[in-house]
Amino acid sequence: MTTVLIKGARPYGEGDPVDVLIEDGVITDLGALEVPADDTDAEVIDAAGQVLLPGFVDLHTHLREPGREDTETIATGSAAAALGGYTAVFAMANTDPVADNAVIVDHVWRRGQEAGLVDVHPVGAVTVGLKGERLAELGTMAKSEAKVKVFSDDGLCVADPLLMRRALEYSTALGVVIAQHAEEPRLTVGAQAHEGEQSARLGYTGWPASAEESIVARDCLLARHANARLHVCHVSTSGTADILRWAKERGTQVSAEVTPHHLLLTDERLATYDPINKVNPPLRTGSDAEKLRAALAEGVIDCVATDHAPHAVQDKDCEWNSARPGMLGLQTALSIVVETMVRTGLLDWRGVARVMSERPAEIGNLTDHGRPIEVGEPANLTLVDPDTEWTVRGVELASIAANTPYEGMRLPGVVTATLLRGRITAREGKITQ
Ligand code: DOR
Ligand code: ZN
Ligand code: ZN
Repeated sequence: MTTVLIKGARPYGEGDPVDVLIEDGVITDLGALEVPADDTDAEVIDAAGQVLLPGFVDLHTHLREPGREDTETIATGSAAAALGGYTAVFAMANTDPVADNAVIVDHVWRRGQEAGLVDVHPVGAVTVGLKGERLAELGTMAKSEAKVKVFSDDGLCVADPLLMRRALEYSTALGVVIAQHAEEPRLTVGAQAHEGEQSARLGYTGWPASAEESIVARDCLLARHANARLHVCHVSTSGTADILRWAKERGTQVSAEVTPHHLLLTDERLATYDPINKVNPPLRTGSDAEKLRAALAEGVIDCVATDHAPHAVQDKDCEWNSARPGMLGLQTALSIVVETMVRTGLLDWRGVARVMSERPAEIGNLTDHGRPIEVGEPANLTLVDPDTEWTVRGVELASIAANTPYEGMRLPGVVTATLLRGRITAREGKITQ
């Protein structure tokens, strides 16, 4: 029997410290506890002053396997996830080859299980080869070993309304969710940065807010008429938040995520011309970031997802227009949420559990993550030291790539331990296995 005893943590940062006993992957006791006398192998974690949360779930991660293992593998991405407090991640389909069939998604699922640090749920492509021309075999992927629960062409938008409508209709029958990267491609030809004062000053082709908002509005209507569930990836504009509020008030089954970088960073950063800040959708204005924070606190935006996007040095350390969009996110997400949402008083730790774990698990149809911290529940857990700060160094992160926009920043909130089904996967900043 494997036994772990967490001593003196505060679940959800509430009430008096308690001890949590975990036996064979399940929480078996909560209170003032001793290690059972007959259990000499038990591991004890001294968690005085720490907050105990359900393990985080990332609905939006790019692991680059297969195809770009020079920037991230399922194993290194899993390590970054565990160190960031995650117990489950959804790996986007824009790999090479694309995860648009059962062979690839099952391969990703198995590699994740072999790595054994987080549950890696492959996202299936909506269209064959992400080409936006014909639907992939969603049913085959949903019924494969990987049991695909989320489908997305992320990186690209399912722009054809007829294809999107069909995908939504199938998704209801299969009990899965379609996650849309909302970007009307005709409005973003050659786009390099948020269309606004900064892009005008710096001479970048603009990526207008309307390219996102027009697709989100359209898809909310399509989902409503198909009686289907829609998930909106990486909401980046205040206008999108308004559309989501409107759609939710009318009973549309729509959920949405926001990235840590859209909560914290703005297009003011573009003045340096450093492509580390290039991301899709682009960094928006300070007023957008402020409204996204409010929408997340209010529940109009359901959750935080990283859009962790590792890139090789040569694809980032180059001229802006030829750099690839994307930023690392798994190991910094919690700290950015603490900085933007907890320190500002917008969310308490219960709220952090909601946006980092419970809602993403529900949206992704996971039944054993994002569960209450109670006896009988699976021990997928994260321990956070809320007061300590740390300094981000790209080279020290577990990802192969190092493209973090937070280089050198001091951030609050340290993940001190992560447990997957009662097994300690990360502790004190190190992978344990
Ligand atoms: O910034 C981004 N990077 N946005 C996307 O949609 C794709 C992603 C990637 O795969 O690098
Ligand atoms: Zn995307
Ligand atoms: Zn993405």
